Amino acid sequence: MKFNHRFQVSAPSNIAFVKYWGKFHGQLPCNPSLSMTLDSCRSHLKVDVKVDSTLDFQLDFSFEGESHPKFAQRIEKYLKLVASDLSWIYNCQLKLEASNTFPHSAGIASSASAFAALGSALEKIDSLMAKRDFDVKRASSFARVGSGSAARSIVGAYNIWGKLDSLISSDEYASPFANAHRNFNSVADVVCIVDSGAKLISSTDGHASMEGHPFAEARYQQAKNNLLTLITAMQNGNWKTFGAIIEQEALTLHALMMSATEPYILLRPQSLEIIGKIKKFRTETGIDIYFTIDAGPNIHIIYPKGENDEVIEQFIESELTKYCVGPKFIYDQIGTGVRFE
Ligand code: DP6
Repeated sequence: MKFNHRFQVSAPSNIAFVKYWGKFHGQLPCNPSLSMTLDSCRSHLKVDVKVDSTLDFQLDFSFEGESHPKFAQRIEKYLKLVASDLSWIYNCQLKLEASNTFPHSAGIASSASAFAALGSALEKIDSLMAKRDFDVKRASSFARVGSGSAARSIVGAYNIWGKLDSLISSDEYASPFANAHRNFNSVADVVCIVDSGAKLISSTDGHASMEGHPFAEARYQQAKNNLLTLITAMQNGNWKTFGAIIEQEALTLHALMMSATEPYILLRPQSLEIIGKIKKFRTETGIDIYFTIDAGPNIHIIYPKGENDEVIEQFIESELTKYCVGPKFIYDQIGTGVRFE
């Protein structure tokens, strides 16, 4: 079979409210997680694919106009892994031109948006070749194999990844959580960039540190309980319970790093200052404004967008700028997922 196609796809990053931390073979999660899909922090991919039984696999990868051997190697390894489900990969020439909308120096993990874009591109090609509709579950599953959190970036708004007996969710792919109250329709994520450098410890090594972690089983149980409480809070429009859970999840993630067999600390003094300021501002104003943190020192500020936007932005710029570097802040919000152009 001969197949040629050129297209563009973009996928957003996402921010987890209940954290995925710990995985087992096949990049399956040790606990279920829930995230919000972002809007403007995206990875773009220009794809040019040729499939022909006479061709041998060939990848031509560039990132922001330049060759990037480290990324190219990771992608090649990934494509060989998913080729067990997508056998045309063995006979394709694939040109990928990748770029990110968020600054490279922002210290923002780009593997979620990058693999969501790539997983969706593969599912797009496969569905066109098989003359069937694009399947979001398959796209999520292909994205997951590249980076676990990427599974949650295919569809917009809120996604749950990882099975839990009382929910219809899967370890293989993420499913949308569509029952959030309207209080969660419009939500901001302002990233305070405390450090723009590369991560000291990769997420992959962080997940590995959960193997034999003294608190692993208690953590997986806590995540399941937190997910159920969070879902109820989001269904009821309850920002206070939601905020308490996401902050506990963020601090638990970092406590797990600090209590691993080989402990490490990613938070910086500035991260703690920002957390303190957010809590003080919340207590003084009564405004719903909370924080979450990924596997790095940057603080994500989460709040409902609306009447308090101006006073919150003023607080951020006047009180938090001194703790931040580089672009200082990235203003993002809830978004809609993968787009084909
Ligand atoms: C702390 O998805 O980056 O952001 O599956 O090894 O690629 P790999 O890890 P990754 O881990 C994300 C961890 C986290 C929490 C989360 O997004 O749920």
